[in-house]
Amino acid sequence: MSSRSLVGIDLGSSSVVCAVGEEDGRRIRVVGVGEAASTGVRKSVITDPDAAQSSITKALDAAERAAGHEIDSAVLCLGGRHLESHPNQAVVSVVARGGAVGGGDLNRVLEAARDGGSSEGCEVVHLIPRAYSVDAKEGLRDPRGVEGSRLAVDAELVTASTAHLEALLACAHGVGLRVDDVVAQPLASAEGVLRDSELEGAVAVVDVGGGTTDIAVFRQGTIRRVVVLPVGGQNVTNDLSTGLHCDQEEAELIKRRHGHCDPGQVLVEEMVTVVGIAGVGRDEVPRRWLAEIIEPRAREMARMIGEALETEAVQKVVLTGGCARLRGFPAAIHQILEMPVRVAVPEGFSGLSDQLGMPEHAAVAGLLRWGQRSTTVRERSNPKVTRSQGRLNRWLHELF
Ligand SMILES: Nc1ncnc2c1ncn2[C@@H]1O[C@H](COP(=O)(O)OP(=O)(O)OP(=O)(O)O)[C@@H](O)[C@H]1O
Ligand SMILES: [Mg+2]
Repeated sequence: MSSRSLVGIDLGSSSVVCAVGEEDGRRIRVVGVGEAASTGVRKSVITDPDAAQSSITKALDAAERAAGHEIDSAVLCLGGRHLESHPNQAVVSVVARGGAVGGGDLNRVLEAARDGGSSEGCEVVHLIPRAYSVDAKEGLRDPRGVEGSRLAVDAELVTASTAHLEALLACAHGVGLRVDDVVAQPLASAEGVLRDSELEGAVAVVDVGGGTTDIAVFRQGTIRRVVVLPVGGQNVTNDLSTGLHCDQEEAELIKRRHGHCDPGQVLVEEMVTVVGIAGVGRDEVPRRWLAEIIEPRAREMARMIGEALETEAVQKVVLTGGCARLRGFPAAIHQILEMPVRVAVPEGFSGLSDQLGMPEHAAVAGLLRWGQRSTTVRERSNPKVTRSQGRLNRWLHELF
C-alpha cells in the first residue's frame, strides 16, 4: 500500500511555497518542494486573485515535477492581520448515561464554546480547548469518563475574516485543488518549528515574513494567543530602495547580500555597489550606510513584537520566517526583548529535508505536520458545512 501523500501550500506576501511529503512511520519524508515569487498578495492577503492563482500554479508545477506525481488537494495557510484570538468559556450539563462525561457532552460543550466566537464578517477557524473541568475537578486534558454533573471548557478561538478565507478557498479551487484544511499562519509556523521541550516554559513563535509578523504564544503546553503585526522584511526593502535611490529588486538583492541591522558590526571601509533606478548609474556606497538605514526599522519591528508580548510573560522567542535571515535581526530582538532568541528552521523531516529546512519554510512545514495529524481528511469544497472541525494535535489538543 502506498503511504499517504501530504501537501501544504503557503501563499505568502513574498513567495508561494508548495511542499509535498509522504508518511514515513511517525516522520514525514519530503518528496518535493516548489516555490514561486508571489504576486497578487499584500500583507498576506489576496489582493489580485488571478495573479495569486498564477503564482500558486507555478509553485504547484515545480512541486509536482519534484515529487513525480500530480497534486489534487492540499492544506492551506491563512495569513493576515484579520486573524485574531479570543479566550472563551462554556458550560453544559452532563447528560451521558452513568453520570460520566461522554463524547456527546464533549461535543456539546465545544459547540457552546464555538458559539459567540463568530461575528458579522468573521468566523472561527480554530477552536482549541485548553482545559476542561467536571464539577470541582479542574485542569483536565480529556474529561471523558470523569463523573459529575457540570462540564466546563476553557478554550482559545482563532477567528478570521470570512471574505479573506473565502478568497483563499476560491484561489485554490480556481487552480483545480480540493482543500483538505486551512490553518492560521501563526499556528502553522509554530507547528513547523516549535520543539516539544520549548512548550514546558512560556514561549512565543515569531514568524517574520515579507509582509507580516505572525506570533503564537504558548504557556503550560497550550496556546495562549495569536497575533499578526503588519510589518515584515518588505518594510526593510522599501526603506533601502528609498534611501539608496534604487528599485525594489536591487534593494532586495542588496539587503540579502550585504544587509545588517547593526552598523557597529560593519567595517567602515567596506563598500557596496548600488545600481540606480531602472538600471541607470552605479554608486559605491559604504556598507555601513545600509546598516544605518536598516537599524531603525529592525529596532522598530523588535519593539512592536515586544509590545505585542508585553502582557504574555514570555521567557523565550523562537524566531523564524525569511526575515530571521537578516544579519543582526535576531540580536536586535534579543537586545530589545531581553530574552533568549532561537533562530528556528523546520527539523525532523527525512527525504529532501534540506529543501524544507529554512526559516521561510516554517509555515509550509507545519502544514505537512498538520495534515499528518489530521485523523480524517475533511474537504473544504463547501466550507460552510465542513469548516472548523478540529484535529488531534500534539499541543493544540483539539479533541474532535
Ligand atoms: N538572506 C536574507 N537576508 C535578509 N532577508 C531575507 C533573506 N532571505 C529572505 N529574506 C526576507 O524574508 C522575507 C520573506 O520571508 P518569507 O518567505 O517568510 O515571507 P512570506 O511568507 O512570503 O510573507 P508573509 O508571511 O509575510 O506573508 C522577505 O522580505 C525577504 O527579503
Ligand atoms: Mg509567511
